[in-house]
Amino acid sequence: MNLVIRPCASAVELKHAIGPIAHYFGRSVPSEDQAERLIRVMPAERVYAAWEGGHAVGGLGAFPFLLTVPGGRVPAAGVTVAAVLPTHRRRGALRAMMRALLDATHARGEPIAFLWATEDTIYGRFGFGLASFTAEIDLPRERSAFHGPSLSSGHVQLVPLGAAEQLVAPIYERVAVETPGMFARSSAWWQVRVLDDPEWRRRGTGDLQCAVLEHEGRPAAYALYRMNPAFQRGIQTGSVVVVEAVAASPEATRGIWRYLLDIDWMARVRAELLPLDHPLLLLMAEPRRLGFSLRDGLWVRLVDIKAAMAVRSYQACGSLVIDVIDEFCPWNAGCWRVGSDGVEGTDEAPGLRCDVSALGSAYLGAFTWSQMARALRVQELRAGALAIADALFRVKKAPWCPEIF
Ligand SMILES: CC(C)(COP(=O)(O)OP(=O)(O)OC[C@H]1O[C@@H](n2cnc3c(N)ncnc32)[C@H](O)[C@@H]1OP(=O)(O)O)[C@@H](O)C(=O)NCCC(=O)NCCS
Repeated sequence: MNLVIRPCASAVELKHAIGPIAHYFGRSVPSEDQAERLIRVMPAERVYAAWEGGHAVGGLGAFPFLLTVPGGRVPAAGVTVAAVLPTHRRRGALRAMMRALLDATHARGEPIAFLWATEDTIYGRFGFGLASFTAEIDLPRERSAFHGPSLSSGHVQLVPLGAAEQLVAPIYERVAVETPGMFARSSAWWQVRVLDDPEWRRRGTGDLQCAVLEHEGRPAAYALYRMNPAFQRGIQTGSVVVVEAVAASPEATRGIWRYLLDIDWMARVRAELLPLDHPLLLLMAEPRRLGFSLRDGLWVRLVDIKAAMAVRSYQACGSLVIDVIDEFCPWNAGCWRVGSDGVEGTDEAPGLRCDVSALGSAYLGAFTWSQMARALRVQELRAGALAIADALFRVKKAPWCPEIF
């Protein structure tokens, strides 16, 4: 492979580096608009390219995120724009870029890398484990009654996108800080990634709308959505497409969803990127009608096991030694004692043995250790170790990331 792997040195190089991912989205070159947006939220030096002559034939970058994990927040690399041109595929370009990116992440002191995968076969070999689920719904509006009496949960107002950030960002932050898998959003992120509404994002649906619900005197929930009206012989067949609905209390959740489910003209309500434990499942009189379906969400890679495990909280029920196999980042390999008193390398006999990807799957709380053992992803070396691990890693909330980055 005569490719040179190095980070971008300028905005111009960054634009080259995202050329390969733009190719897969059907563009010969990335648009100026997309490149400019990206540079506002990702420094050029965090994007790697595989260079051949003056051309980038592959790209791989990482947003500098602050990720919520059970019990805390941690700097983390949000891996993105991964692509290698079809002319250079399967010659090791992704592997080489991933090597450079994870080494730099480690050197920078970011203990975790995480991503959304377009194909679930790509990233396990680099130590990423499936770490959250994402759900979608497609609900006929006439079957959207809630269980129990209908109660008022506040007042909803439509807010112009230009004025939305100051209202919605604090709500998002209240939820993000206590939800593993969510990351803090900077003002630049809100402006270029969430509240801006360029034509290419609409995919044939309506303008982005922002509704804010006030409950007990303050903004408590918001919904970003698009109207997609349609009629056949005068009968409505269109849908509301919910882009993101975030609520800071159970009442606010009920209120903002009642608003979305009651919009006239719409036959259906569609939403993606919902959490596995969404309250809608229990709010609805007919949960079956949600058409609630699941797929993989985030994939997590512990880049520095000691630092990543130390920032996470554990239930106070002793400790456990886990023997970790990590071929791609060998500094992690070996036995780690994990518990509420801390995390340390040890020579003691392990209770469990697993690949680092299994640790990624357990980290945010998506899977219990017993579940992973039933799928042969972890080996119990001492009787009772799985039960201790399940108790230690128990979480209050399913991990959730409401946004593909
Ligand atoms: C996915 C992609 C980046 C892989 O790049 P690549 O340079 O061909 O990958 P590499 O040659 O470095 O492959 C490394 C390993 O991953 C495997 N691999 C790569 N892509 C794979 C895929 N899509 N499915 C299964 N295995 C894959 C290779 O076979 C190789 O395996 P090995 O280590 O056992 O030999 C490239 O195919 C691509 O750009 N795909 C379209 C865009 C995309 O899906 N990007 C991911 C966004 S999340």
